[in-house]
Amino acid sequence: MAARIRDYLGSNAVQSALGQPAQAPPFAAADEIPLIEAALSRRTVLTTAGIAGALAAATVIADVTGAFGRGGGGDSPFGEPFPGTHHNDNTQSGNDPNSGIKTLTSEAPLPAQFSATLPIPKQLQPTRQTSDTDYYDIVQSAATAEILPGLKTPIWGYNGTFPGPTIVQNPGRNVVVTHRNNLPVPTVVHLHGGAIPHDSDGYPTDFVLPAASYGDFPAMPAMGDMPAMTDPQAVVTRQTRDYTYPTPPRAATLWYHDHRMDFTGASVHRGLAGFHLAHDAEEQELPLPQGSRDVPLMIVDRAFAADGSFRYPALDPAMRSTPGVDRDAGNGVMGDVILVNGAPWPAMKVDAARYRFRILNASNARTYQLALDDSTGFTQIGTDQGLLAAPQQLDAIALSPAQRFDVVIDFSRHRVGDRITLTNQLGSDSTGVVMRFEVARTATDTSSVPATLSTVDPIDPSSSVATRTMTFHRAGTDWEINGRVFDPTYSEADVRAGSTEVWTVTSDFHHPFHVHNATMQVVSRDGQDPGPYDRGWKDTVFLNKGEKVRIAIRFSDYKGRYVFHCHNLEHEDMGMMANFTIN
Ligand code: C2O
Ligand code: CU
Repeated sequence: MAARIRDYLGSNAVQSALGQPAQAPPFAAADEIPLIEAALSRRTVLTTAGIAGALAAATVIADVTGAFGRGGGGDSPFGEPFPGTHHNDNTQSGNDPNSGIKTLTSEAPLPAQFSATLPIPKQLQPTRQTSDTDYYDIVQSAATAEILPGLKTPIWGYNGTFPGPTIVQNPGRNVVVTHRNNLPVPTVVHLHGGAIPHDSDGYPTDFVLPAASYGDFPAMPAMGDMPAMTDPQAVVTRQTRDYTYPTPPRAATLWYHDHRMDFTGASVHRGLAGFHLAHDAEEQELPLPQGSRDVPLMIVDRAFAADGSFRYPALDPAMRSTPGVDRDAGNGVMGDVILVNGAPWPAMKVDAARYRFRILNASNARTYQLALDDSTGFTQIGTDQGLLAAPQQLDAIALSPAQRFDVVIDFSRHRVGDRITLTNQLGSDSTGVVMRFEVARTATDTSSVPATLSTVDPIDPSSSVATRTMTFHRAGTDWEINGRVFDPTYSEADVRAGSTEVWTVTSDFHHPFHVHNATMQVVSRDGQDPGPYDRGWKDTVFLNKGEKVRIAIRFSDYKGRYVFHCHNLEHEDMGMMANFTIN
């Protein structure tokens, strides 16, 4: 095995994965986790040498897990507004959930803010319908988008668009989406937040292979002439696959995105993400804003190369064999341009009326704290997994990658001509601004936000049938859960269908914790009550650096193999994912 590793060290790919000699990254805050010199990343070993070799290799290389000891930190729960983040120097705050993550800068000329019009993703129409099921077709294809004026950005999109088309799942309806992969690499579609039979959940090795002309793709990447890892349980199809989505238990703002093992960050960054809005009768009876006043907002950050292409520091830009990103992007990839529904800092003309905004953070790594510059704040009505029990008034909302906040903003308190800017209190300069609303006209408005929205029964943690601890931490260039990088053949937890467990999740960095096929409630943060951003049913819970969060997780009744992982996509791709099995 040692000889093999030396061989790999001779390969360019591994050299670049290992990076340059120890040097503190210029962007790291003083208290930041350093990028230490790993001997050889276990992730690299896994993907080069195969599962059988990996265990042996892991004993050969230095075990660097313990090297990340960092005491303290995280004394301010994420549930409180971040102290010190109202000023612009966010690298000074140890509590800043973006500290230590490098922002790539754009080389292309950037447009004036608010010069673009907010696009609204098209609602996909079914290709056929039966008494209980709507059938949709999506083609995953390469396309170009004019995101910056006069420049063409190559994207990968669902139906060639970024964001992809919005799928609306009406009460009582099942949805079947036939995806066709016309891209040059394997893809996997995951419906984030859904309760879904395992064969439609988008398990990371359940590839939809590209056309045979693009060559062979093993179940997991291999390098050189070494045997590839294979996942014996993977269900691989060629070019098309039907994904079946039963009626969700509650109305919720879900989203779908690529989930290919090792390459999710690169794939989503190219544009493979869209909304999936599930409605139910309870929600439809409420007098909330609807129709053109119910608007999904997908927020991402990107940096652009001079030719208009997205800058993403992939080790293998063809996304065929070597996973991962440049060393100094190992904490995550952020950009200096904020896109909403694919447009840079757009403006939206609004009526002087109430609007519902379904805000999704689809960024790879960036966490936002959103506020309105008229200081009137938001009425939050929902979160990841649907409506709150009652609305809550918030001056700002913090959302980590993958989280959703449903809010109502009442523009009737403004005069025609007023402009209200949506800002990001965790950003600075170009990333401190998100979009603008321009009150264009008066209008009648019969909507309201009722005092009771839904029923959210608090999970009683004593109903938990098991407790577990999940430690999210860094080891060298890998990101690990309980000391392991993702291994499709290993189950970290075997759980009972429909049961509730309490997991204590600890983190050495900022990690958005996401569980498939389950819904969660935050029980406590560092021993304190959950914060205002923790309310309701979640599928993604943010952990700031050093936090310990207890989470009650209710698993769905669908059985089989699922994953939980960090939703910082660079962390996920570098190993921070694990299986659990529902029996
Ligand atoms: Cu949004 Cu497993 O992911
Ligand atoms: Cu993470």
